[in-house]
Amino acid sequence: MGLSRQARGLPEKRVMDLSEAIAGRRSVREYTDEAVDEQAIRGLIDAATRAPSAVNQQPWTFTVVRDQATLDRISREAKTHMLASPHADRFQSLLASPDFHIFYHAPALILISAAAEGPWIVEDCALAAENLMLTAHAAGFGTCWIGFAQTFLGTPEGKALLGLPAAWAPIAPIIVGRPKAAPPPVARNAPVIRWIG
Ligand SMILES: Cc1cc2nc3c(=O)[nH]c(=O)nc-3n(C[C@H](O)[C@H](O)[C@H](O)COP(=O)(O)O)c2cc1C
Repeated sequence: MGLSRQARGLPEKRVMDLSEAIAGRRSVREYTDEAVDEQAIRGLIDAATRAPSAVNQQPWTFTVVRDQATLDRISREAKTHMLASPHADRFQSLLASPDFHIFYHAPALILISAAAEGPWIVEDCALAAENLMLTAHAAGFGTCWIGFAQTFLGTPEGKALLGLPAAWAPIAPIIVGRPKAAPPPVARNAPVIRWIG
């Protein structure tokens, strides 16, 4: 067994409590230029794969994109794609702005896609995404689910851009990086609760 951190003169590593991670995670939209290394990404993916999945199907796959030119291109094409969709009304001016980058210039994107068909693949991949985002927060990374990328990545053009097999369904595009600053808290509505018994 190795020496403890204390014996090696290192401060005790503080592990973030789960409730602290749940309460403290925020969608991060400003990142430093610091790259996210392979080991860190593998750790996040490992946490993602600990999620439950229907009949333990584990339909998730992970496509890691750290090439900025590719992220820039997806940002441009996804904005054009979204602007043509009936859901774009609320976001018209944002999506039309050449300065708006849907990935906020984050150093990495982890796209969770389902490689299998089934009635619960979206739920499975979303659970994996939440594990990934909470683990990232506990490790000092910021994340944000980028829904703006989702429909474009599901088109034949989007899949071709990332080399995804036609049968895969992109579900959770999650950007990852070191936050420039801690985002302020975001209010939550009081939950609607009905008690029966
Ligand atoms: C399915 C989904 C899609 C989202 N899409 C985007 C997006 O395209 N761009 C963005 O900036 N934030 C996006 N978000 C982040 C939400 O805006 C954010 O979770 C919400 O405002 C609550 O803030 P919080 O995550 O800091 O608690 C998305 C979140 C989810 C769950």
